[in-house]
Amino acid sequence: MRSHYCGVVDESLLDQEVTLCGWANRRRDHGGVIFVDLRDREGLVQIVFDPENPEMFTQAERIRNEYVLQVTGKVRARPEGTVNNDLRTGQIEIYVTKLVVLNASETPPFMIDDDEVNEDNRLKYRYLDMRRPEMLKRIKLRSQVTRSLREYLDNQNFWDLETPMLTKATPEGARDYLVPSRTHQGSFFALPQSPQIFKQLLMVAGMDRYYQMVRCFRDEDLRADRQPEFTQLDMELSFVDEEEIMSITENMIRDLFAHVLEAPLPNPFPRMTYEEAMSRYGSDKPDLRIDMELVDVNDIMQDVDFKVFSGPAKDEDGRVVVLKLPKGADLSRKEIDDYTAYVGRYGAKGLAYIKVNDVAAGREGLQSPIVKFLPDEALAEIIKRCNVETGDMLFFGAGATTIVNESIGALRVKLGHDRGLASNDWKPLWVVDFPMFEWDERNKRWSALHHPFTAPAIDDVEALKANPGKALSRAYDMVLNGTELGGGSIRIHNSEIQQAAFEILGIDEAEQEEKFGFLLNALKYGCPPHGGLAFGLDRLVMLMTGAKSIRDVMTFPKTQTAACLLTDAPSTVSAEQLKELNIRLRKVQTETTE
Ligand code: AMO
Ligand code: AMP
Repeated sequence: MRSHYCGVVDESLLDQEVTLCGWANRRRDHGGVIFVDLRDREGLVQIVFDPENPEMFTQAERIRNEYVLQVTGKVRARPEGTVNNDLRTGQIEIYVTKLVVLNASETPPFMIDDDEVNEDNRLKYRYLDMRRPEMLKRIKLRSQVTRSLREYLDNQNFWDLETPMLTKATPEGARDYLVPSRTHQGSFFALPQSPQIFKQLLMVAGMDRYYQMVRCFRDEDLRADRQPEFTQLDMELSFVDEEEIMSITENMIRDLFAHVLEAPLPNPFPRMTYEEAMSRYGSDKPDLRIDMELVDVNDIMQDVDFKVFSGPAKDEDGRVVVLKLPKGADLSRKEIDDYTAYVGRYGAKGLAYIKVNDVAAGREGLQSPIVKFLPDEALAEIIKRCNVETGDMLFFGAGATTIVNESIGALRVKLGHDRGLASNDWKPLWVVDFPMFEWDERNKRWSALHHPFTAPAIDDVEALKANPGKALSRAYDMVLNGTELGGGSIRIHNSEIQQAAFEILGIDEAEQEEKFGFLLNALKYGCPPHGGLAFGLDRLVMLMTGAKSIRDVMTFPKTQTAACLLTDAPSTVSAEQLKELNIRLRKVQTETTE
């Protein structure tokens, strides 16, 4: 039906006849001549209708936005003064000799070249939204990314294998999406939160190296970088250690950025322990584009006359930190209040600050509601430790370590972006030496920092059980520009250690048997040492395209409340279907009628 894509017709085709198909982006009538921008996946080209062919001209007058056209015509140079150097096709236009209207369109709910459409409308009419060049560009890049990743992995001897979607719960820490079984009434499948257990079983089966671009399902609170269904690049390898896995995956990402974005990434990626990341950045996914750090001042604040600081400074689980904002003393009262409210969202009780108006003037040069509580030596030590200069602003976070880390860690990133302090570089890193377990105060039990199949750094089962809080794991996360791109670990391949890990997590023998019996069994039949990693493909593409949300790099994403506005899913189902499944909805129905 066509000889070329619209977006690629250029001077090289001058005087040739081409046949193009696409959508009418806009029609303009100019003193007897009609111009239409014809658009397809590859871009726009200007087509021209001349009144000399009256029959065709009358038809052209009926063209509206988003009509689907097939045109044949000669490529000619645009008249002087009408050249558009921003377009690949900007030097030429098509002088149309034949027009076929392949389909009409109703007036679309928004203009395809409008960048300000609200997101609900975009999601409801996603098929129109995706016609926008910005979306096309991102979706194209996504396809280039998956192709490049597959090529790399195929070259590294990975096999592309599939694992079930209708399965049993996999513990990745979110709620499951459940699917009722008709043939086993009262029983449910869980959609996989990840292929974790199956990929380990593939290693037991001797597949050696596996990868999969796979959909994962997690019912959790959604954010810009979280969707209820998302895609992982999931990998697992046998007879490897963490060094080998990190080297293969790091090379893969470097190769990807070099090929798709022509962007060189550092070689090797820097590494940081979990402890160091938390201490310097308050986060296990530090954004290294921002050159600001949390500076510990517990020692200085032990004995000051300000309980807000001295309390946490003396507490084993407390922390007092300073975050210096270079040249930040110009922040207004209102801005400081807004940042105080911002850290409040993370549980911080306040945000003390010192404006450094003149560092040479001692106490007199410091403007702050809290300097009166701090002795001269403390002030001098803070100034020295933070390399403070005139014009800087110091923020203070004090309280429980977890809250200080989260709130001041988030403030660091926000200030960095608000004040334009983030560099334009790609800043990848590995975070390593995670603790095996963390204490869950609410449920009074240990929980796995990664997942329950992650190998501890020690082999001694008794020592592990005696002091779970001290054990490090063999897990690693790849972080890029403050986003966790992927995570993985060396796995437990010994059933005794696996049982010990379950025990520490409070999963008793009966539950182990019921939930993971098949895995424990498999570990007994010659399971090779193995490990792997999974990347969040949507996040990777989000970063590579500069999109603000992973929704913008997915074809048909869901809203923040996990609904699809296009299809209206989830939706109610017929009484018939429910009956087949033996499901009664009495309770839900009364709730909605109330
Ligand atoms: P993890 O739970 O860290 O590890 O997930 C791996 C990566 O998947 C991405 N990701 C998400 N992306 C979008 N929306 C979500 N809701 C979402 N949740 C996670 C992140 C994350 O780094 N089985 C292990 C991997 C392994 O050990 O091999 C796992 O799933 O980028
Ligand atoms: P107050 O004495 O409560 O008025 O607090 C004095 C200053 O300390 C104010 O600027 C508060 O925002 C700040 N502040 C209060 N609690 C904390 C905290 N936990 N961490 C940091 N600053 C705080």
